[in-house]
Amino acid sequence: MRIRDNRLYFGDHFAGDLAREFGTPLYVYEEEVLRARCRELKNLLKRPNCAVNYSMKANSNVALLEIVRNEGLRVDTMSPGEIFLAMEAGYRPEEILFIGNNVSKAEMSYAIDRGVLVSVDSISQLEYFGQLKPGGEVVVRINPNIGDGHSAKVITAGRVKFGTPRDQLPELKRVAARYDVSIIGINMHIGSLFLTPHNYLAAVEHLLEIAEGFDHLRLIDFGGGLGVPYRHTQEERFPLAEFAKEFEAVLSAWEEETGNKKVKFIIEPGRYPVAECGTLLGTVHSIKENFGTVFVGTDLGFNVLIRPELYGAYHEVIVCNNAESRDLVEVSVCGNICESGDLVAEARLLPDISLDDTLAVLDAGAYGFSMSSNYNMRLRPAEVLLQRDGTLRVIREREDLSYLLANQRYGTGETAGTSPAGGKGEARGEAKGKGAKS
Ligand code: LLP
Repeated sequence: MRIRDNRLYFGDHFAGDLAREFGTPLYVYEEEVLRARCRELKNLLKRPNCAVNYSMKANSNVALLEIVRNEGLRVDTMSPGEIFLAMEAGYRPEEILFIGNNVSKAEMSYAIDRGVLVSVDSISQLEYFGQLKPGGEVVVRINPNIGDGHSAKVITAGRVKFGTPRDQLPELKRVAARYDVSIIGINMHIGSLFLTPHNYLAAVEHLLEIAEGFDHLRLIDFGGGLGVPYRHTQEERFPLAEFAKEFEAVLSAWEEETGNKKVKFIIEPGRYPVAECGTLLGTVHSIKENFGTVFVGTDLGFNVLIRPELYGAYHEVIVCNNAESRDLVEVSVCGNICESGDLVAEARLLPDISLDDTLAVLDAGAYGFSMSSNYNMRLRPAEVLLQRDGTLRVIREREDLSYLLANQRYGTGETAGTSPAGGKGEARGEAKGKGAKS
């Protein structure tokens, strides 16, 4: 992505042309950026016993997963659906870790049956595991009580539902022994989006101390959370090099102290590799002033990007055909969903915007599409990849109206349940193929 002559481009493609060609809302990803971020992580620690697991909840598009896999990252999954997609992208079971939360026995079995290593989140979940796989090997999620993150909603240590606190570990070990289950790993995840490594490193030291209480550990997974600077002019990048140095020092000290050089160390970032490679494009369909606020109405409803609505998250917005103008006006960019909180950017200073302009929401690659929905029966957007050779590839088609009928059973009498999609097969046929946009 770059700005040339006041316009936003992806490679040689003007963003406005992409919007016209593929329709909006549209997610555009840049392969080059994705690969670069994966490499930074892969090269973070130059030691053979360190791996990077991509936490695919951030973005689970299979074409992107294939690239991440090709860059040598393994994968962290949290549902059978994620395991299914990871395997579709070519991941082998031994490259996948299943870190579930409150999963059913059937979901746990899905992982176990495929030979995927499971991390359990509580003593109850360990009971499930023991019943399903007595004599098996398991990982246990610890709650280190040191959290961090951009919102209380995403801090995952302390008084939250995740992990097992240290004082419950004696009981957890007794349950494991009862089922002859070996605890071969421990993991944690303290929360999401921090731009300084202080708390993460404190939690790392804490987890390493806890690790000393286990005899057969083969892996210690420190979780993700490494942030990206969403506010381009105000935030510094996460200091990867400085972090790597301190992290390395802590790990080597632990290895020296314990004489344990066999354990594999894992980090598990989701946002860091994918956030910045993704941009969300939308179209302006209305401009009006209500009681002193200018509302720029777009097709970027919170069904396509929920982060601003859910967390008050900030994303830079660019007017694609007027990207660098310094003549700024305060506006609120909103979507097309029937709620007043449907705001992509509130009270933001932006260059002059006209009807039908294309807007770009930056750093939308993580928790963008993966948290999208059909709320208000809007259709989920298409995704396009700018490949390394400069060409564009559609990596997900835009939904059409037939998706809205998927799995529904309706109608009366003989039509009910006669087609796999529901009663009214004709309605489906009619809706399909018309290329309707949301
Ligand atoms: N590992 C585990 C066990 C996790 O639950 C998560 C994220 C990660 C790793 C990756 O965290 P990351 O490196 O992406 O921060 N929807 C929120 C973020 C929720 C994160 C949930 N867990 C957002 O849009 O900010």
